[in-house]
Amino acid sequence: MATIEVPRDLDAVLDDAWDAARKIPGYLMENEARLLGTIAACVPAGGAIVETGSFKGKSTVMLAKVAAHYGLGPIVAIDPHNSPILLDCESDPEATSYKDFLRNIEAAGVANQVEIHLAYSHQVSISWSRPIRFLWIDGDHTYEGAKTDFDGFIKHLNPQGVVAFHDALNVFPGPIRVFVEDVLRSDEFGAAGFVHSIAWSQFRPNDGGRFQKQRAALGRSAARLIPFVADGEKLHGLTKLRYKLNRSRVPRSAVHPADWVSLLDRPMQS
Ligand SMILES: C[S@@+](CC[C@H](N)C(=O)[O-])C[C@H]1O[C@@H](n2cnc3c(N)ncnc32)[C@H](O)[C@@H]1O
Repeated sequence: MATIEVPRDLDAVLDDAWDAARKIPGYLMENEARLLGTIAACVPAGGAIVETGSFKGKSTVMLAKVAAHYGLGPIVAIDPHNSPILLDCESDPEATSYKDFLRNIEAAGVANQVEIHLAYSHQVSISWSRPIRFLWIDGDHTYEGAKTDFDGFIKHLNPQGVVAFHDALNVFPGPIRVFVEDVLRSDEFGAAGFVHSIAWSQFRPNDGGRFQKQRAALGRSAARLIPFVADGEKLHGLTKLRYKLNRSRVPRSAVHPADWVSLLDRPMQS
């Protein structure tokens, strides 16, 4: 694969994007936001950037700021904005995150950089036909939800493109299971890793087998988490401690853009 150039101004662009995104309520940490921006700017593939699950726009703004700077086209932001988990739908059945989302992308100056789909991801993926460079999955965290997002859009991911799941190292059944079963165990994927709770991997349908050893090592430690989160229930006591111990054995770290790019073509030696 040709060497990927990291844009010289990327650190400054990520600083600026995070400055806008950090003010927005949400669950994305700074090192995760920087990874998203890095992937958007450096992924060596063309196509759309697709986000399932936007909530109030934290990751949308991060991605849109980077995309605007480098002319990467709009962020496709898909969310019905009616989450009963995140919104108080009991006291207000009409509760929505849509107004805050619109206000936040407007305030960040990226409203014209976002293609909004006020819909469930499967309603969009069913008729989706455009190639994708970066698939960012942060919607329904059940197994069925994460699997539907993955299956619905992955067939459109361009070779060398990247898929990433949020909350793969938090107590949710979907992201970690789909990442282990459909990504780490597939020879269609290459380099892979975790940054905070984000799991990411590059789609390498032609030579992903070269990364089999690396994916298998990651998969062995990550797979141990699946039984703990399978029923989606909160963990308590000893079970919680055992989950945390197993999670501490999954390698993860923040990555600087230059290091992330170098990971893409560095399979583990056998
Ligand atoms: C964890 S939040 C997303 C956080 C957001 N990415 C951020 O950076 O703040 C999950 C969102 O997924 C949305 N969601 C739930 N099911 C969905 C689905 N099937 N398709 C698209 N979005 C969905 C919810 O409405 C909610 O706003």
